Amino acid sequence: MERYRVVQWSTGNIGKKALGILLDRDVFDVVGVHAFGPDKVGQDAGALVGRAPIGVAATDDVDALIELAPDCVNYMPRAIDFDLVERLLRSGINVVTTGDFVTGSHHPAELAALEAAGREGGATFLGTGFEPGFANVAAGFLTGACSQVRSVKLVETLDCTTYPVQDVWKVLGFGKPPRQRITQIDPETQRYGLGYFETLDMIATMLGTELDSKDAFVESAVLTQDVNLGWVDYAAGTVGGQRRTYRGHRSGRPVIELAICWTMSDDALDPQWTDPKGFSVVIEGEPRVDATIRFGEPGQDIMTVLMASTAVAAVNAIPFLCDAKPGVITPIDLPITGSPGALTA
Ligand SMILES: NC(=O)c1ccc[n+]([C@@H]2O[C@H](COP(=O)([O-])OP(=O)(O)OC[C@H]3O[C@@H](n4cnc5c(N)ncnc54)[C@H](OP(=O)(O)O)[C@@H]3O)[C@@H](O)[C@H]2O)c1
Repeated sequence: MERYRVVQWSTGNIGKKALGILLDRDVFDVVGVHAFGPDKVGQDAGALVGRAPIGVAATDDVDALIELAPDCVNYMPRAIDFDLVERLLRSGINVVTTGDFVTGSHHPAELAALEAAGREGGATFLGTGFEPGFANVAAGFLTGACSQVRSVKLVETLDCTTYPVQDVWKVLGFGKPPRQRITQIDPETQRYGLGYFETLDMIATMLGTELDSKDAFVESAVLTQDVNLGWVDYAAGTVGGQRRTYRGHRSGRPVIELAICWTMSDDALDPQWTDPKGFSVVIEGEPRVDATIRFGEPGQDIMTVLMASTAVAAVNAIPFLCDAKPGVITPIDLPITGSPGALTA
């Protein structure tokens, strides 16, 4: 059995889950862990994820981690440092990330630089995750059952009260009075969430076509009472929910749509959206497809569940990434697989 020497980069919400999965799977050796937080530097990586010590101390020494010459860096910081990723690739280290990058269609400069760095170092870069990532591949994959497709729509509806990334929610406008009910998203000026636009291109590729244009807009819902989530307080009258819609157009009509409904309250929002919780895929075509997929047990904290699913999408890709052609690949360049090593006794 081939083994893979992996450096886990960051142990935040997703990185912690990923490190646990890497430690559980027989094919991976965790040879290094990067820590940004000074409180984490020097700590044993096992201890950082509530495990027994593994004899690997977390470090902020980038050179030392590169000198380890790992097969892959599992890169999960809050935001991608593209200069760093290029350096890793040029050093011959494959990189998989859950950061905001899927096809690179909205990151043209970075895509070209990553391609060049990968070819120079003989290494491969992949951006994936759950959504963007796995869920979009699943929606596109379902079109494989259809002889004709008029449109593909994926709706994600999540209670986000247990995803404590306060800075990210703040940037998105949560906890602030809404400026307007509906805001257009211009990918040229609003650089957050470009990966969502890129999933539209990915599904178009799965349909053997290209989109003529894309657009996106955000609808805000306002809290009707104060909300205390333990990690943040939101006041009545501020934004407590968003429905983000990304659309890909062809021949003058929307053909691929991704709607993301994120809420910080189940019942104290105006408007009150009624989409079913989970992931809904509707393909208008021949035949029509209507699939609602829910993850986790009823009542289970969905964000914790999906943090692990995000991490496992990256971890599952590592063996394939290490054998892939140098440059940039996308989630649909991976072979069709489930979760090798996941079956429990
Ligand atoms: N595709 C998907 O399905 C999906 C789903 C959820 C999240 N994501 C993405 O996955 C990535 C990780 O998410 P997360 O929730 O784990 O993020 P997070 O917990 O907010 O942050 C991850 C880590 O980033 C490092 N960090 C924080 N501030 C930094 C700074 N100023 N400079 C350098 N590093 C910094 C910290 O590393 P240390 O731990 O070393 O201190 C932190 O633990 C994000 O890009 C997020 O958008 C993708």
